[in-house]
Amino acid sequence: MSEAVHEVPAAWAKRAYIDDAKYQAMYQRSIDDPNGFWAEHGQRIHWMTPFTKVKNTDYNGDVSIKWFEDGVTNVAYNCIDRHLKNRADQVAIIWEGDDPSESKKITYQELHDEVCRMANILRLRNVEKGDRVTIYMPMIPEAAYAMLACARIGAIHSVVFGGFSPDSLAQRITDCESKCIITADEGLRGGRKVPLKANVDAAIAKSGGVDHVIVVRRTGGAVEMDPVRDVWYHEAADVVTAECPCAEMNAEDPLFILYTSGSTGKPKGVLHTTGGYLVFASMTHQYVFDYHDGDIYWCTADVGWVTGHSYILYGPLANGATTLMFEGVPNYPTNSRFWEVIDKHKVNTFYTAPTAIRALMQAGDEPVKKTSRASLRLLGSVGEPINPEAWEWYYRVVGDNRCPIVDTWWQTETGGILITPLPGATKLKPGSATRPFFGVKPQIVDAEGKPLEGAVSGNLCITDSWPGQMRSVYGDHQRFIETYFKTYPGKYFTGDGCRRDEDGYYWITGRVDDVINVSGHRMGTAEVESSLVLHEKVSEAAVVGYPHDIKGQGIYAYVTLMNGVEPSEELRKELVAHVRKDIGPIAAPDKIQFSPGLPKTRSGKIMRRILRKIAEDDFGNLGDTSTLADPAVVDDLVNNRQNKK
Ligand code: WTA
Repeated sequence: MSEAVHEVPAAWAKRAYIDDAKYQAMYQRSIDDPNGFWAEHGQRIHWMTPFTKVKNTDYNGDVSIKWFEDGVTNVAYNCIDRHLKNRADQVAIIWEGDDPSESKKITYQELHDEVCRMANILRLRNVEKGDRVTIYMPMIPEAAYAMLACARIGAIHSVVFGGFSPDSLAQRITDCESKCIITADEGLRGGRKVPLKANVDAAIAKSGGVDHVIVVRRTGGAVEMDPVRDVWYHEAADVVTAECPCAEMNAEDPLFILYTSGSTGKPKGVLHTTGGYLVFASMTHQYVFDYHDGDIYWCTADVGWVTGHSYILYGPLANGATTLMFEGVPNYPTNSRFWEVIDKHKVNTFYTAPTAIRALMQAGDEPVKKTSRASLRLLGSVGEPINPEAWEWYYRVVGDNRCPIVDTWWQTETGGILITPLPGATKLKPGSATRPFFGVKPQIVDAEGKPLEGAVSGNLCITDSWPGQMRSVYGDHQRFIETYFKTYPGKYFTGDGCRRDEDGYYWITGRVDDVINVSGHRMGTAEVESSLVLHEKVSEAAVVGYPHDIKGQGIYAYVTLMNGVEPSEELRKELVAHVRKDIGPIAAPDKIQFSPGLPKTRSGKIMRRILRKIAEDDFGNLGDTSTLADPAVVDDLVNNRQNKK
């Protein structure tokens, strides 16, 4: 592990909102007096009716989390309308298309008009406050209009990543009972078309219950339109006005649902509400990225993930920022694309994922060095642990040894960044997310839940609430309690392992549950297993993660076939294709090992510990196998492992 320390650059100490002394003081106050602290910072957004209560949270019993509970506000008003007085002509969104020749700029006034039109289109279709709208879109400005239009009228959006299959989409439509879907004819990524509308049709055939589909024309590709159910966005937009009032929303009214994978069962609908979420997203965006007026800010995430919600859209727009939205991929048309976009739009802050950094690092320095990147001031990382080698390359080659890196740890559930450096305050250690943000109380516990002090490793909990925290699992509050508050009663359990060093810095070591992190995307091993056993030739499957140079973790599947079915290369390909189709490309196994048996205890429980070790090529270290029902299974697994060099 690298022990390098990077001091705060002098230029940053001068420019930043927060230096180290200020961080210490503000952090201490946020912990000692959360009500006073958040009463003050709650003022950063506009309230139609000011709140009089601040924090009302309980991690025990039924778990109840409320912030600013009697305040009334509207997220779209905060992200758009309140900026119109001073920023009507300022660019809100820079859109960079998949093809480098395509880009456009949307001012706050234009954003207002487009969002109002989209909101009116929804209203005309009887979408009301509290109704769920599913958004299945490419990275085009209309995705932002759709999300903000929902916020404007108080509908709850559920954005589903465009890479998910029709079945995954259907599951998510059904779970939250969406009657309205916003999509596009096709998406465009790396020059390849994604059949979004056709996927929506297939999903609805399965889910039913959808009355309206609004279709944005992106590629002009041929799609089928149901004359009753479907409408083109550009046609619907022609017959509505560019004015639409903002619904009055209670601070605790839902803003969105975002489905995410857990260690068991189907993906769960993480529910975020209005007031606390926006306060936290905008505050973290301002301080973590030290956002100042005029900065050009780019987060490369997809709006289908929480990073896109909080740090492409809501945080930046609440701060009146200029946020860049990129439709494409890092290596199209060439490996210089990210850096060319930075030069083209004079990007100051660049926020991406370790998997992209590692992939581009493999392509060498030259595609980076041939660009200027002189506008860059700050770099960010999110989604998975960043290994020190990738960190140093990002720092040295991309940032020319000039730009601090904020390694931000957080989760879909947390709504915003919880552990992170602040660029003017925090010395950096490559690979460490460093210190907690204001109001965040991390605790490392052992397997029994005993809090550990000092420099230790263990499981990461957060012991008290912050305003951006999820409030519930949509439609299943019991699952919320069970998933996050039962392992260590009275604490929020993150599912991550973590080390704390002598300086109090936190080093996230990755998931300790049955969730794997593939290219920064969360995948439940149980989901991939259920998909595999759906295949007629599969009798049983067990899935684990293994270290992967680019993806961080790869998906390793052990598959037991039905009696009489012979393993073959064709079948391996067939199973990979099956999972791709069933869940989506991100869930496709990287390796499949056909195994006549799986290591099980005598009570029939699969010993994943052993499967993980074999997948990691750590088979000299399998531990005690004597409790297995049939220890001979392990020899077969080791001899046929798929990692053999
Ligand atoms: C992992 C993404 C190390 C972690 C915002 C967490 C990280 C999961 C980091 C959440 C980081 C995210 N360092 N690990 N900086 N950021 N993770 O819900 O395991 O898609 O639990 O949210 O990603 O993934 P999610």
